[in-house]
Amino acid sequence: MNVLVAGGTGCLGRSLCRVLADRGHEVTAASRSPDASELPDGVATTVLDVTESDLTAAVAGHDAVVNLVALPSHVESRDRSHESVHYDGTRHLVSASEETGVERFVQLSGLGVDDGVQTAYFRAKRRAERVVRRSSLEWVIYRPSVVFGDGCAFTPFVERMSPPLVTPLPGGGRMHLQPIWVEDLTPMIADGLETDRHAERCYEIGGPERLTLAETVTTIRGGGIVVPIPLLLAGIVARVVDPLPQIPFGRDQYRALHLDNTTTDDALDAFGVDPASLRTLSAWIETARGDR
Ligand SMILES: NC(=O)c1ccc[n+]([C@@H]2O[C@H](COP(=O)([O-])OP(=O)(O)OC[C@H]3O[C@@H](n4cnc5c(N)ncnc54)[C@H](OP(=O)(O)O)[C@@H]3O)[C@@H](O)[C@H]2O)c1
Repeated sequence: MNVLVAGGTGCLGRSLCRVLADRGHEVTAASRSPDASELPDGVATTVLDVTESDLTAAVAGHDAVVNLVALPSHVESRDRSHESVHYDGTRHLVSASEETGVERFVQLSGLGVDDGVQTAYFRAKRRAERVVRRSSLEWVIYRPSVVFGDGCAFTPFVERMSPPLVTPLPGGGRMHLQPIWVEDLTPMIADGLETDRHAERCYEIGGPERLTLAETVTTIRGGGIVVPIPLLLAGIVARVVDPLPQIPFGRDQYRALHLDNTTTDDALDAFGVDPASLRTLSAWIETARGDR
């Protein structure tokens, strides 16, 4: 199969490109500034900005498109909004795919898009899913929990946000996450591309453990203690710092704190994956520290 991986230079993208190339597919990684030296041998690159409305030139000639383009949930500016990158970007990719005869379209969404959380990220992801479902393409949608691994933003973000010894967390960090290792996730995405029975399915995927935010932070930090901040106070702080782009916390992040990021119907079975075979966050951290 000839596959275009939009956002192919990111955390999931690099891993997926490697899996697809290893399985014998012809792979092109697309992003605004792709660097071939950071991609596995044999993966081609092309320049693509999904906020542009006509993407037919980049999409033409491919059998399948995977949309991994991302704007991190805490980053938004006047010219790079969740609406323009996630919703308009998906519309543009879907329409170019329909026009150029692409058969299969894989969309990366996020766990919790259906739970009514009113953040700009979730709203745009929810609308993007609708575009994909209404298209004439054979689609597969994945909704992962947070993803960790080499080159992924999650663990550096937590390290940046939490002081080493004492970490203040709204409500004590009681919401749950189900972190999944990128190298466990991307083979399942490749299966979705290759296998007809996954067409028109939407899969929730989480890792082997349900950790509270507090447990996640102390695992990543390798210890320390968590000091609860009253939710009311955190809400006031979120409103005050919301307009400051350099602080990755605001009203949307505060809203997202009220919702567990865990699966209700985990799709591991659909891919024949045993949860016990998945890497835990602590096991990965241990290996990553050993490698440093
Ligand atoms: N990582 C997670 O924890 C997580 C959890 C749930 C869902 N997801 C979803 O999984 C997908 C992949 O996430 P990720 O973590 O791999 O993201 P990432 O590491 O931030 O990579 C994002 C990719 O998108 C490209 N990109 C950004 N803006 C673009 C634009 N306007 N046009 C074309 N390419 C653009 C980036 O390259 P350039 O900047 O060079 O253009 C990069 O290749 C996303 O849909 C994300 O929402 C991720």
